[in-house]
Amino acid sequence: MKNFWQKLTKPILTTTPMAGITDSAWRQICKSWGADVVHTEFVSVDALCHNSAKTMAMLAYQASEQPVVVQIFGKNAELYPQAAKIVAKTGIAGIDINFGCPAKKVAGHGGGICLLRDLKIVRDIVAKTTAAVDLPVSVKTRIGLRKIQGQPESGNISVFDFMDALKDLPLAALILHGRNYEVPFTGPVDLDMLKEAGEKFKSLWPQGIYLINGSFQTVESVVADLKYTQADGIALSRSLYGRPWLFKQIKDYIQTGHYQEVDWPTIKETAIRHAELLWQSKNEKTFVEMRKHLLFYVKGRSDASELRKKLVNVTSPKEVAKILNPLT
Ligand SMILES: Cc1cc2nc3c(=O)[nH]c(=O)nc-3n(C[C@H](O)[C@H](O)[C@H](O)COP(=O)(O)O)c2cc1C
Repeated sequence: MKNFWQKLTKPILTTTPMAGITDSAWRQICKSWGADVVHTEFVSVDALCHNSAKTMAMLAYQASEQPVVVQIFGKNAELYPQAAKIVAKTGIAGIDINFGCPAKKVAGHGGGICLLRDLKIVRDIVAKTTAAVDLPVSVKTRIGLRKIQGQPESGNISVFDFMDALKDLPLAALILHGRNYEVPFTGPVDLDMLKEAGEKFKSLWPQGIYLINGSFQTVESVVADLKYTQADGIALSRSLYGRPWLFKQIKDYIQTGHYQEVDWPTIKETAIRHAELLWQSKNEKTFVEMRKHLLFYVKGRSDASELRKKLVNVTSPKEVAKILNPLT
């Protein structure tokens, strides 16, 4: 098996998978700013097995994005081998399995993070996927979830139980979000848990790659968190909104002890390039997806609120350039 993870220089900096965000255009932008690995949005195994055109389109990527990891999700372990084989045919570098989604439409039906309530299914999914394809398979999860109220037998489940259930399976990497199911997106991450989980992961998978995730990250906080947890790298998510150059800044800081703030011409150029890439990879109707990114790119400017009013209506990269280009 070609395991690209092991060839990367540490610390490894990646995007996490993010629905509605990590499409091909965003991945190309992150790659151009120094991301080592990029992840797709999560892709349903059910939809893959039903050959859904919309889902198949989510597997499209450009060579410049590689290594690209496709994240798949679903509750039915039986569908994973077929879904993984479909994904593998695209020439993608790796597969990640989602065991962390807290969204009602996924976790509410026992998927995502709630799969951890039945570790036999977790094991079955990973065993079937790793046996089906000759690609590195990683998993993404959270530090845990609490017992269901009124059902004490459901018990608290942690990432340690999760790792125990998978311990003899060939995992290439673990991305661990340092928050639990109950407080899914706010507040600080539990750095002590991230550190301890990393130690356990390394004892079970000495060759595996351990990536931490979660909380608003600055250049300095990434470096401090990596040092504290001893992780092999970090997977960035919302911290990248409107500032994909974070990858370069972190690398510069690690290599030289300093990094540069980006100037407006660079921000403008990145935003327009992002809009062009999205235009090329999607259709006119879906260009509206660019608007949220644009609002982040102009954040912090003194005329941001005025600009926001214009940017929420853009329908093409030409319009984006027309608004941003005259600005200094
Ligand atoms: C809009 C949005 C979409 C997300 N989609 C996914 C997804 O498809 N798969 C996944 O594993 N996590 C997904 N996540 C979770 C992120 O990957 C990440 O774990 C989480 O945002 C915590 O990191 P942060 O605090 O640095 O943002 C999503 C989060 C957000 C905000």
